[in-house]
Formats: sequence, structure tokens, C-alpha cells
Amino acid sequence: MRHLLDTRTLARADALRVLDVAEDMRDTQSREIRKLPTLRGKTVVNLFFEDSTRTRISFEAAAKRLSADVINFSAKGSSVSKGESLQDTAQTLQAMGADAVVIRHGASGAPQTLATSGWISAGVVNAGDGTHEHPTQALLDAFTIRKRFFGDDSRGRDLAGLKVTIVGDVLHSRVARSNVWLLSTLGAEVTLVAPPTLVPQDVSAWPVRIVYDLDEAIDGAPDAIMMLRIQLERMNAAYFPTEREYSRRWGLDAARLQRLPEGSIVMHPGPMNRGLEISADAADSPRSTVLEQVANGVSVRMAALYLLLAGERETTHAEEDAR
Ligand code: NCD
Repeated sequence: MRHLLDTRTLARADALRVLDVAEDMRDTQSREIRKLPTLRGKTVVNLFFEDSTRTRISFEAAAKRLSADVINFSAKGSSVSKGESLQDTAQTLQAMGADAVVIRHGASGAPQTLATSGWISAGVVNAGDGTHEHPTQALLDAFTIRKRFFGDDSRGRDLAGLKVTIVGDVLHSRVARSNVWLLSTLGAEVTLVAPPTLVPQDVSAWPVRIVYDLDEAIDGAPDAIMMLRIQLERMNAAYFPTEREYSRRWGLDAARLQRLPEGSIVMHPGPMNRGLEISADAADSPRSTVLEQVANGVSVRMAALYLLLAGERETTHAEEDAR
């Protein structure tokens, strides 16, 4: 794998490869010494033009556990226009010898630009670009679903036969987009639930079913329900009457939690607006995978960095390291 830019064009075999290598990485994370020598001498740059807590820390932990050198670059608040600043920054990174660049940017397509511009030779990982995609989040979500439903039997399996319902601010969510593509590539049946104002215009081409009523979607007995954060910072208009009204109609509260099928799971990529899209009962219930998602994120990002930087040739070595 040269870059990881989106899940829309990620082949099923490549997705399964990331998930299976992540299984190996996860196994190493329960050892006393969690650090692997695999990426010693490689440099990973975290280039964050947008706020992030868990994604940036997760990539940093992943790179460090593979013994790579990590440089964190927060470019938020730069006064240079975005296009120029991206080129200048990229050329600086190239001069410093970056082997992989993990980029989060407010502009959809920025990672693609970086990967195809010729400014750098490093592998590029998209850590969230505008409202476009967030591929490692979808991979960690798929990993979490697979683990909860198939446990130690997960390797090599896809998500065929599972129903996943994604609820909320789909319009602004790169997490939703990446999950729609990845989960359907892996054979899951995906339903989106949102107020009509938060459904994107172009969804007719997406491999999903759209429902406007959360209770109706819950009647469909989803195996996993993924709540999305209401992204107030991307809203320049009123998309719903009041927060109270939103949470009454599209929030996951105690009553709806009760109606979910036995064995189903509740997911959220974080950060959560407790009391808005998800109640504390739901967020903290045994069904909730919120913290598992965070933990699995490190294993999945280790897998992604490994596949980008160590490549196929050294696969067997890293798999040996991981055993
Ligand atoms: C998501 C993001 O930044 O796209 N968060 C994350 O990466 N964990 C979702 C969000 O901000 O709501």
C-alpha cells in the first residue's frame, strides 16, 4: 500500500489485510513490552491543520510502538492561505526526510493533493479531510464490530450478515462517509438515519438505505448503531429547530437503548456531545464500544503505518515480530 487516502476505492482484500495485521498488532499490545522494532529509523510526521485529540494521539502512539521517530506539527491558525501553506509545509517535510505523513485538514481532498502533487515522496495517510473521508476511523470501527461479533475468530472474516445503522449528522461527517464505503465493501448492510436537513444531496449513489425516523430504524434490529457527533463547528445555519428537539427525535436515550436487540453494540467515534446525540446511559452502557474503539484505533493505525512503511516485502518479519 502506497497511501491510505479513502475507503471508497479501498479493495476488499486490502481492507481485510489492514484488519488482519491489526489483529497481530493488537496481540502485541497485551504484552509487558509493547514496543516493536519494526519501523526503527523511519520518520512519521503528524500534520494536523484541524483540532484533534484522539486521532493525533492514536497515530503518535501507533508510530512510537513501532519504534518510528514522530514529529508532531500543528498548523492550526496559520495565516498563509491553505494551498500555499500545504505546499510549503510539504516541501519542508520532504527536506526533513519524512517517510510517512499523517494529515488532517479542513479541506476535502487535501491528502489526495499532497499524495499526487509530487511535493513529497512520503506515503500519505488521511486522518480526516473536511467532510470527505476518515479511512482509519472506519477501519477501526470495522475492526471493533468484527471483534465484538467474531472474537478470536475474526481473522479473514468480513461483515456479511451484519446490519449497521449510522445516525445523525451525516451531512458533515467524514466518519459516516468512510464507514458507508468500507462497511458495504465488507458486506454489511448499512442504514443511515438523519433529519432530512442533515442528509447529503448526493446519497442516491451510496450503497445505503435512508430512514428519517430513528424508532423505525431501531425496529429494524441493527447489530451495531453508530451515533455521530452533531458538528456545530461546521454548521453555518440552523439544521434543526433546537438541541432538545434533536435529542428527542434522533438521540440515543435510555428508552431506545432498551429496545435495541440483545447482543447489539453502541458506537461513537468521539468526541461525544453527551445529552445531545447520545445519553450518558447509552454512552456508558455495557453495549457501548466507545473505549474499545479508541484502543483498537492504535492497533489499526499501527497496521496502516506498517503496511505503508514496511511494505509487503518485510511482511513476514513484522508478522514474526508480532507473534
Ligand atoms: C471524528 C472526526 O474528527 O472526524 N472524530 C475522530 O476522529 N475521532 C468525528 C467528529 O469529530 O465528530
